[in-house]
Amino acid sequence: MSVTRIRPWQVLGIPDDFHDEIRFFMPQAQGAGSLLSIESLLLIKVMRVVKPGKIFEFGTYKGLTTRLLLANLPQSDAQAEARIFTLDLPNLDEVRFQGTDVDLAREVLDYRRRYLEEKDSHLVHQILQDSMKFDPEPYVGNFSMIFIDANHALDYVKKDTENSFRMLASGMSCVVWHDYGHPEFPELTAYVDELGTKMKIFLIEGTKMAFHPRGFDPVASL
Ligand SMILES: C[S@@+](CC[C@H](N)C(=O)[O-])C[C@H]1O[C@@H](n2cnc3c(N)ncnc32)[C@H](O)[C@@H]1O
Repeated sequence: MSVTRIRPWQVLGIPDDFHDEIRFFMPQAQGAGSLLSIESLLLIKVMRVVKPGKIFEFGTYKGLTTRLLLANLPQSDAQAEARIFTLDLPNLDEVRFQGTDVDLAREVLDYRRRYLEEKDSHLVHQILQDSMKFDPEPYVGNFSMIFIDANHALDYVKKDTENSFRMLASGMSCVVWHDYGHPEFPELTAYVDELGTKMKIFLIEGTKMAFHPRGFDPVASL
């Protein structure tokens, strides 16, 4: 087994029971740092398939993807105060960075995150902590969708991934990694490739998004 490459239409072709209308936002002009439009669309699709009670995001940045997920969050029976947990740094102390990650981290230290503009922003719980020091134990089995997009250096991605699998809920769920195949982060790609020898992981071609689905199979559903 290794990472299976699929086309965006194969993900978009998974049946779901939602109306076709979504809320979307223009990508930031500067580009880097957040998702491509197609990646945003695919993430909404994955969210519609999984219908998560709660979502965890490693790496809030400007809160753009947090806002997108919040604006399209499926209804849930969960009477939770917060449904999207998103983690980012309080400061840069003792954090090691690869490539241009340090610039993104510095850029948002005092940034008013965009999900705060949404009327349902109370459904977002912001955690300000170095993910290397993050304790997943209070959240074991809590999240059915987890998006890993914080520090892309190998030991951080490894730690965030291991924590994600501790926090992943049983039943239909999904772990998504961003920046697979990014030239700045070859170790991240090699790590996800290695994981792909042990579990089903799909790379969506034309994007830097890889995901591990549980309870659904984008290829089988075609
Ligand atoms: C690529 S951006 C996240 C983009 C965001 N997920 C989106 O889609 O808009 C990476 C973020 O990870 C944060 N970060 C970097 N190292 C971190 C660490 N050790 N712990 C927590 N967050 C970290 C940075 O501050 C930055 O905001």
